[in-house]
This record gives sequence, C-alpha cells and structure tokens, in this order.
Amino acid sequence: MSNVVVVGTQWGDEGKGKITDYLAQEADVVVRYQGGNNAGHTIVFDNQKFALHLLPSGCLSKNKLNIMANGMVINPKALIEELKGLEERGIKGINLKISNRAHIVFPYHMTLDGAFEQSAGSKKIGTTKKGIGPAYTDKYFRSGIRMGDLLDSKYFAERLKAALSIKNNVLKMLGLDSMDFKELFEEFMGYKEVLGHMITDTSVLLNEALEADKKVLFEGAQGVMLCTDHGSYPYVTSSSPTAAAVPLYTGIAPSYIQNVLGITKAYTTRVGEGAFPTEFEDEIAHTIREVGNEYGTTTKRPRRIGWLDTVVLRHAKRVSGISGLSIMLLDVLSGLKTLKICTHYIMDGNKIDYIPSIIDHLDNVEPIYTEMPGWDEDITGVVAFEELPQNAKNYLLEIQKLTGINVKIFSVGPDRQQTIELESIL
Ligand code: GDP
Ligand code: IMO
Ligand code: MG
Repeated sequence: MSNVVVVGTQWGDEGKGKITDYLAQEADVVVRYQGGNNAGHTIVFDNQKFALHLLPSGCLSKNKLNIMANGMVINPKALIEELKGLEERGIKGINLKISNRAHIVFPYHMTLDGAFEQSAGSKKIGTTKKGIGPAYTDKYFRSGIRMGDLLDSKYFAERLKAALSIKNNVLKMLGLDSMDFKELFEEFMGYKEVLGHMITDTSVLLNEALEADKKVLFEGAQGVMLCTDHGSYPYVTSSSPTAAAVPLYTGIAPSYIQNVLGITKAYTTRVGEGAFPTEFEDEIAHTIREVGNEYGTTTKRPRRIGWLDTVVLRHAKRVSGISGLSIMLLDVLSGLKTLKICTHYIMDGNKIDYIPSIIDHLDNVEPIYTEMPGWDEDITGVVAFEELPQNAKNYLLEIQKLTGINVKIFSVGPDRQQTIELESIL
C-alpha cells in the first residue's frame, strides 16, 4: 500500500503545492480532498511559476490521474478559467475527474461571504471571499447543489429554483441585488458543456486505484489550525484539512490512511484574522516577509509572521496523525542571528501543551521560547543534509526532538529541485 496524505500543520501556505508536485513525479493519482479556490498552491520548475487554486497539484506532471473529491466545494467558472490558463501555458491533456458529490460554489455564496464579512466589522474572519463558508453551510443545511446535479438539467433546475427562493430573500434583507434563475441556469448549463465529461463517482475510481496498489497522493488545502473542528475557531475555514477527514471527503476506507506528511514552514505565517501566539512584527519579521515573499497566493494580502510553534505542531500530530515532517522555506532563515522556537505556552500562570478552545484564551497565552544560533550561509544550493551549516542541522534536529516526528524532507527554495528527501516517501 503506497499512499501519502499531504497536510498543512500550521495556518496554511506551508508549501503543500510544492511538495505535492514534487511527490507527484512518483505518483499515479493526486487527489484534492477539501476546500475550494480559497487555496493557493504555488509550484515552480524550469523557471516557470504556477499558482493552482482548485486543481490538484498533479496537473503539472504528465500522465497522472487528478481527482477533485467529494469534500471539495467547486466554483465551475473559476475551474474553467484555471484550466484555460494552464492550456495557454502549454499544459494540455490533463486527466481530471470531478466528484459528482462535490458541492458547487454559486455567485450568491460569494456575495454572501463578502456581505457577512462586511457586517461583522472588527469581528470579521478575514475570509478569502470565495464563497467557501456559505457553500459548506448549504451542504450541511442540505440546500447545496452538487456537481453531479449539473448532469440532470431537470433536477438541477429544481434545486436551483428552491435555493434561489431562499437566497434571494436573504440578499433582499441585506439590501443586495437578487439573482435571476434563468440567467444562472443558462450560465451553469454552459459550464456543464465544458466539465460534464469529467464528472463521475470518484470514490469508485479511487478505490479501484488503491486496490490495484497505485501510488496515491492526497493533497490537503489550508492547515490544521484552520480546521473547523481542531483549528483556532471561529477564525478557521469551513472544512477539515486533517488526514482524519480524507476517508470521508474521498469515499475510501480509513484503513488506507497510514502515511501523513506534515508540511511545515520553518517559521509560521497566517493570513486573515485570529489568534497567533508566536506572531511578531519588527525588522526581522519584515525581512522574513520580503525574503520569503510572504504575500497571499490567492488574495495577495501580506502574511503575518511568527516564530515556529511546536505546541501547534504537536497539536497537528495529535489530531491528524503526522508520521513525517517536511520542513519548508529553511533558506528564508539564513542570515538571522538568533532563531526562536516556541516550546510551550503559559496560560493563567500554568504551563500548557495544548491549544485552548476559546479563541480569547489562545490570544492571551504567553509563548515560551528556546533560542538557537542562526547561520549566515546561503543554503539554496544545498542538496544533502550533510551540506547544511551545523546550526541549520541543529535547527532541524531540534524540531524533530520537540515534536517527536522525523524530518523526512527539507526544502531550500521554491523550485522543485530545491527539495531534499531524507527518507523515501512514496
Ligand atoms: P501552499 O498553499 O501550502 O501550497 O503554499 P503557498 O504556495 O501558498 O505558499 C508557499 C510559498 O513558499 C510559495 O510562494 C512557494 O513558492 C514558496 N516556497 C515553497 N517552498 C519554499 C522554500 O523552501 N523556500 C522558499 N524560499 N520558498 C518556498
Ligand atoms: P492554502 O491551501 C492560508 C484562511 C483565510 C481566513 C480563513 C477563512 O493555500 O494553504 P475562507 O475563505 O476559507 O472562508 O477563509 O482561512 N485561509 C487560508 N489561509 N492558506 C489557505 O489555503 C487558506 N484558505 C483559507 O485567510 O483567515
Ligand atoms: Mg497557499
């Protein structure tokens, strides 16, 4: 059995796209299992840079089966634009299958996402405004419409009419324009023309692949701290990026999930609002932001910067079962005199090693740090652990010690080639 789940262990943007693309060289199937185009996964190779939002990161490698699973919420217009964008850059013939059970993100979801954020004022979540929360709300309220519904135009029309009768009332209450059934219906029938042949029961395909011992990569979006259940609620996304969610979100048996690679930035970043215990904003944070190009792939917002937080990593290990770490952006720390790693928190005078469930409590914990000397050398050309400066080696070893998880990959630049695999993953 050879499959790996790629999970972000922090607040997203850890480099999941880069590692999924790197591991995809060895894989047969790549599956995006949750989220939508709130994600932004960057991939760099042969002096080309790609940003994927909906498509699995196997799309840039030849002859892979790419699956968008039932746990995703899909904006068909954005998907078609993404496919077109790749085609214009010479990436053609992608083998893509879309789950008939994945939910559709409609324009009213995006409008409502923006309106709810605006009305929340200082309590806003800082969402990507891609309609993700409202689309997942409809899924669980049983008023959602799924990709497979597009294939039965009569059923689709019934569902859309029913949804609009409620949504237009809500839009009216918020002082917003209502949406026209006929226009929306025709727009979406146009999307069916383009995407219809890709829509299928992807659980069946995936089970066949697993039974045939194909190598399967499961690509998470976001990160454990943005999980609706285990993240910094309510400042989270509306799905679960954890490995535990993979069976439910893809339609496979839990027993298939054994190897979970935790993608971890060598420091921490966050976009959007919400608690972030190890955040700091000074000259060093500014340097990290510029060297690491820490601006959102999807929204271009500057990312907030913090030191590496091993309370967060041990939490990710607990709730998602991380069997190996991939430490990303190690090169960004070159030139810093001292590096800090958070070992635990103090809350109400007590040492704690868990994430408080109430956001105000997480906001008020005091992070306790261990300090380590940094290194000056440029490490972007390093191809083996032995070539790292001693202090960089010590930094990786300290992460391993504090988390109890082996470092299986480290990354020293955005390019596919700047990836050092210490232990075979697939
Ligand atoms: P994802 O959402 O987890 O796929 O991550 P993003 O693509 O949003 O953000 C990661 C950013 O770091 C992207 O700009 C990557 O090109 C970049 N990146 C990934 N690994 C490395 C690395 O090891 N070093 C540097 N300097 N950049 C990296
Ligand atoms: P990738 O896959 C970083 C954040 C948003 C906001 C919160 C809720 O690239 O790591 P949403 O639009 O999902 O309702 O926003 O979650 N967020 C991300 N932050 N990386 C992402 O994805 C994110 N997807 C959502 O900034 O704080
Ligand atoms: Mg990202």
